[in-house]
Amino acid sequence: MIRNKLLAAVTASVAVLGLAACGGSAEGSGGGGGGGGDDTITMGFAQVGAESGWRTANTQSIQESAEAAGIELQFSDAQGEQENQISAIRSFIQQRVDVIAFSPVVETGWDAVLLEAKRANIPVILTDRSVETEQEDLFVTFLGSDFIEEGRKAGEWAVENWASTGAQWNIAELQGTTGAAPAIDRQEGFAEAIADSPNLTIVASQSGDFTRTGGREVMEAMLNSNPDINAVYAHNDDMALGAIEAIEAAGKVPGQDIQIISVDAVRDGMQALADGKINFIVECNPLLGEQLMELAQQVLDGEEVPERVVTEETTFTQEQAAEVLPDRKY
Ligand code: AHR
Repeated sequence: MIRNKLLAAVTASVAVLGLAACGGSAEGSGGGGGGGGDDTITMGFAQVGAESGWRTANTQSIQESAEAAGIELQFSDAQGEQENQISAIRSFIQQRVDVIAFSPVVETGWDAVLLEAKRANIPVILTDRSVETEQEDLFVTFLGSDFIEEGRKAGEWAVENWASTGAQWNIAELQGTTGAAPAIDRQEGFAEAIADSPNLTIVASQSGDFTRTGGREVMEAMLNSNPDINAVYAHNDDMALGAIEAIEAAGKVPGQDIQIISVDAVRDGMQALADGKINFIVECNPLLGEQLMELAQQVLDGEEVPERVVTEETTFTQEQAAEVLPDRKY
């Protein structure tokens, strides 16, 4: 494939320039892979699964953008299992794809397979979620949200709108998948933002696995053991939507008796926000496909790319949700 030729040229020019590339271009991840014999770029993409509306929009964005960019996509759905993702990545390495991209189910446990990709000279791009590795140069770049900042924004809204009332707020936290970067970071950012507000207390915190069913089941259990809950911080919209079902089933009014902050801003979440059932949403943009394809092309062209590309995001109140809903793409 085109990469072999390009990488040979890139490696040569890097050697001449004496650059110690680290995580910024294809050579930073170990050099070239490829092996199909034509100029079409092949990307192996290992997706988390289909756990949420966000994920569905993300998958669609990646598939459509690959097609638009003329990149051949080998797409694999890990169904929420890290071992499936590792197998998919190994299979991409065997197939000698030009570039591997993936959104890791959880943060740790990737060193071995990433080292295999590096040894095979196949650059890896992380998208959506990052990983924690022992070695620094196991991936070229990471494109995705700042999850700590998302949690912080949620916490800041809670301080401004809940803590400022002087009332006691008993918060139920619906966490994302245990060990996943957005669950870890959204918890951290929120906790940091509310730390100086003694009337904001997290009374229960449990994983709902980023799914609507998980959100409903966890909320049901939490309401049974903590009938004084009057606020929810859900790490994503799907869990918030599940929580709404549980709150209504318990005879309470979501958005009023129990106020809700969520993350994502997918259409169903935004509808619930506009309907007054959710009180505030922090956006997490799933439309990463176009940027991912551009980054892949740049990496394979031997261009320097930033080690980190942060997605631009905003927040929505109920009024803002009603305004933007008609044009919401996902
Ligand atoms: O990694 C992004 C998160 O994963 C989204 O916020 C959540 O909905 C998804 O499952």
